Amino acid sequence: MPPDYPPHLPADLPVILSRRALAACVRRLAAEITRDVATLDPVFIGVLKGSLIFMSDLIRRLDFRLTIDFLAVSSYQGDTSTGVVRILKDLDHPITGRHVVLVEDIVDSGQTLSYLAKYLWASNPASLRICTLLDKPAARTVAVDIDYVGHRLENGFVVGYGMDYNQHYRNLPHLAVLEEPS
Ligand code: IMP
Ligand code: MG
Repeated sequence: MPPDYPPHLPADLPVILSRRALAACVRRLAAEITRDVATLDPVFIGVLKGSLIFMSDLIRRLDFRLTIDFLAVSSYQGDTSTGVVRILKDLDHPITGRHVVLVEDIVDSGQTLSYLAKYLWASNPASLRICTLLDKPAARTVAVDIDYVGHRLENGFVVGYGMDYNQHYRNLPHLAVLEEPS
């Protein structure tokens, strides 16, 4: 994508998952997760900022005892993964002995997730499950095990529902495509 990619009005971008489709994804994921962890007092760890909206919708569909925490990481400049993951904000509470569900917005190359899984395992959680709203398996450069996937996508760059391009478009209530799959 050229650096001078013209700013769009968010609502003008082509929709690929409507609010209704996103809500259906979240309901299904919540049911799957409930079957696995409802009795475990799990901690849900959201990866900021992209998972903000997904995480908040997901936990409101979960009717059992749980806690939440957040990590903030950075690996992207515009739409290109730098491959280097940095922790910008660490967890507030220890996860040793806890059952953890990591909540991601989208898994692309897998670099971020593979780094985060290693990082979390180093604290000796009782278990680690990974949930992502979106999966782009075609872009994978590192193998990662994902337990819950909301929706699989081709290679287009998507924005909205928390996801950004250079920090913009997170406020779209649906998921839109910024760059069509090539
Ligand atoms: P990965 O390390 O390449 O798997 O990238 C993971 C992170 O990059 C995700 O958590 C997103 O924050 C961001 N990302 C990857 N693809 C997209 C996209 O299509 N739109 C917005 N953000 C993306
Ligand atoms: Mg992310």
